[in-house]
Amino acid sequence: MKFNYMFSAVMVGLLTACGSGITEVKSPDGEIRFRIDNTSAGLTYSVSDNGTVVVSPSQMGFVLQGGEMLDRFDIRSMSASSHDETWETVWGESRFVRDNYNQLTVEMSQHGGDLLVNLEVRVFDDGFGYRYVFPDQQRDSLVIMQELTQFTLPADAEAWAMPADDPYLEGYFTKTPVSELDTVRTPLTIELPGKYLSIHEAALTDFPKMNLMKTAGNTLQSQLVPWSNGVAAYVTTPFATPWRFMIIGDEPGDLVTSGLMLNLNEPCAIADPSFCKPMKYIGVWWEMHLFRTYWYQCDRHGANTANVRRYIDFAAEHGIPGVLVEGWNKGWEGDWPRNDHFSFTDPYDDYDIEELSRYAADKGVQLIMHHETAAYTTNYENQLDSAYQYMNDHGIHNVKTGYVNRLMDGIEDHSGQYGVRHYRKVIETAARYTSNIDNHEPVMPTGLQRTYPNLMTQEGVRGQEHSAWDTDGGNPPYHTVVMPFTRGLAGPMDFTFGTFNFDNPNSPHARVQTTLAKELALYVIIYSPMQMASDLPENYEAHLDAFQFIKDVPVDWDVTVVPAAVIGDYVAIARKDRNSDDWYLGVATDEEARQLEISLDFLDGDSEYTARIYADAPDADWKTNPTAYAITSQTVTSEDILPVRLAAGGGTAVRFIKK
Ligand code: NOJ
Ligand code: CA
Repeated sequence: MKFNYMFSAVMVGLLTACGSGITEVKSPDGEIRFRIDNTSAGLTYSVSDNGTVVVSPSQMGFVLQGGEMLDRFDIRSMSASSHDETWETVWGESRFVRDNYNQLTVEMSQHGGDLLVNLEVRVFDDGFGYRYVFPDQQRDSLVIMQELTQFTLPADAEAWAMPADDPYLEGYFTKTPVSELDTVRTPLTIELPGKYLSIHEAALTDFPKMNLMKTAGNTLQSQLVPWSNGVAAYVTTPFATPWRFMIIGDEPGDLVTSGLMLNLNEPCAIADPSFCKPMKYIGVWWEMHLFRTYWYQCDRHGANTANVRRYIDFAAEHGIPGVLVEGWNKGWEGDWPRNDHFSFTDPYDDYDIEELSRYAADKGVQLIMHHETAAYTTNYENQLDSAYQYMNDHGIHNVKTGYVNRLMDGIEDHSGQYGVRHYRKVIETAARYTSNIDNHEPVMPTGLQRTYPNLMTQEGVRGQEHSAWDTDGGNPPYHTVVMPFTRGLAGPMDFTFGTFNFDNPNSPHARVQTTLAKELALYVIIYSPMQMASDLPENYEAHLDAFQFIKDVPVDWDVTVVPAAVIGDYVAIARKDRNSDDWYLGVATDEEARQLEISLDFLDGDSEYTARIYADAPDADWKTNPTAYAITSQTVTSEDILPVRLAAGGGTAVRFIKK
């Protein structure tokens, strides 16, 4: 194997040749070292952070159609570069993101073959990413059957993992040793002694999702979700795969505040993204999940004109910008997940969309459209232009999309290349109609919202609806203190909390397993630029003092910090409003009551704040007394330590108003 070093003198220092076949690139602060080793057996990479190995030598490459191997390489050239830029998000958890890395590009050819492939590696201070790039070349199309990329851990370790068997990504992340994992989704969060790692992918636009399959020992290998014919991906050169990345942190909070995934996505492709506006919303929704009303037209049809008017009135009175209406359109009759004929332009007779659009506009409220497709993507794609034009005609610029059916068009996986292409087509169409998406039953998000900020939020999480009806009784209290460190790392979640009434007569086996105060805390802990207040208006009217927090809490942030967290036990997240000087804090626990001391050193040093605290009352308990809360105020500064008492399944939400 012969190296041909092409980097210039200015690049020396970023890249070190460590002897035959081995090359290393370091993070800007020098702590993370990414090393590649090319031998006649194949190409491997390994990574260390401050001397601690985080990835042991791990294989790279692909298997192509006909068993053609792309796993041994001749290196044609190498070059290094570095990048340091701070960019502004259209919306998000932080206003500014620093994108600072050293890059290594290795130009390679298939050993014994004619295929050209480059490896691009970026090493940041908080992790690394790499991707395979097939440059313009004689072979203009490739059929990929398998990816050989591995992540080998230096030792067995605890992982927070979700099995890959649920097409909707609505499983639990549970703590399991890596050595005992089967095939799991990413993000996969791993606790090594003194280190927190998370493996995921960025910029998934035309490739299958990467699951991780445990092979030997502590090795996880990419398993691309295939088409129904067994092919993983059809590729036309030039082509770049999504980035495979790992965030490396010393604390769980380092995973949450990392900008690495967004940095590995392309900049905003929408010329004027001013229509991509974060918002809170309510909706004709929870009442269907409580089986009080139905999606289809009947004498208990949720989306009837009078009922929707009631929601619009409530939204207008309380300054909530959006009202989602599900079940407005024809197609819901019978076993609706089997319906391949939903119309996206034909309302039910008892839903007067013309009148309601006018009524909402007069009251300064926006209707949110609903497109349940039952995963019949061809039916949806055939109607895309008319559906989005219809929205525009009614002044509607936000839509919740849904794909309830295990397979798309009865044949392809949501997470395969077919699904990924479909979702991207919808996002691009919506952008052309200045419309924003809240996508349910998605492929796992990968940071595409940087490029398309109209992709506001997605489900792909075991959200609040499971606590309305799931046969397992609902999401247990630990679930929401795991989410920020697992699914949350992939991007905004449309979790739809906000329950104020915990009685559920139609599904007595299930319930929301939190206190009311924890429901408030989740608005700060779980990030989404579209955040639903999901309970019924009358349940909010019964606790208007607590509802004030939902009215106040922002959905767009300047800065995010994580003052305290033990994954699966408790979490405290503080965020500064992007549009005022106020800070907000959310603290939540699992099923155990706890007393925490939260340092307020995130507040501005020279200021006093009024802290308005929404806490569990002394006798609160998620099982026996969930609605017991206490609202108090006190003056605080950044020097203070705030004692926080959390009931079992409880939480605390705080608004800090700068004096
Ligand atoms: C599943 C979605 O997650 C839920 O929010 C929606 O109400 C139903 N599908 C119906 O579209
Ligand atoms: Ca769902």
